[in-house]
Amino acid sequence: MKRSFSSIGILIGCLALSAFVLSHCASPRGSTPASEPFDPIFPRQVPETVIFERDLKPLLEIECVQCHNHKDAGSNAGLNLETRHAAMTTGLHAPAIRPGDPDNSLFVQVLESDVDHPTSMPPAPDKIWGVRLAIIRKWIRDGAVWPDHVRMVRPQDWAR
Ligand code: HEC
Repeated sequence: MKRSFSSIGILIGCLALSAFVLSHCASPRGSTPASEPFDPIFPRQVPETVIFERDLKPLLEIECVQCHNHKDAGSNAGLNLETRHAAMTTGLHAPAIRPGDPDNSLFVQVLESDVDHPTSMPPAPDKIWGVRLAIIRKWIRDGAVWPDHVRMVRPQDWAR
């Protein structure tokens, strides 16, 4: 009698665990419930309207601005990505961003180039691809809107 009670307990435990796992993992890919905040580092879908500050700044600060900032640009092709003005005017092959034309924007070409290519960006082996790349492409296609007051800060200078 005692033993059957404990196996019922284990059975109930297992059922509860499966229900928990299913409810947390079973939501279909690509559909973000309205209550779920947009995650710019691991976005699950391309937003209807790309808002630079919300959708790209956090990702680009981590992935690009650690090297492409006013202090370190000198050793990184001269490209400073801290402000839209800087991003549009600095760099050996400026402008890196051609609003409306992602295909001809160096900013996109370096992301899409093979990891072995000398100007593959970011230089680390982890490329930016999938939804994150699609968001960058859409942002440039829609005019690379980036308000003047929005300034990217290199992660080295983030408040700790
Ligand atoms: C670890 C440092 C580092 C990081 C991080 C980095 N870059 Fe670079 N970037 C460089 C260096 C170094 C060069 C020059 C490469 C060369 O020409 O050989 C460069 C060159 C470039 C160029 C060419 C600029 C020109 O005018 O010639 C672009 C565009 C660029 N990077 C974009 C990016 C983007 C976008 C990111 C983020 C996804 C990024 N980079 C992340 C170091 C970095």
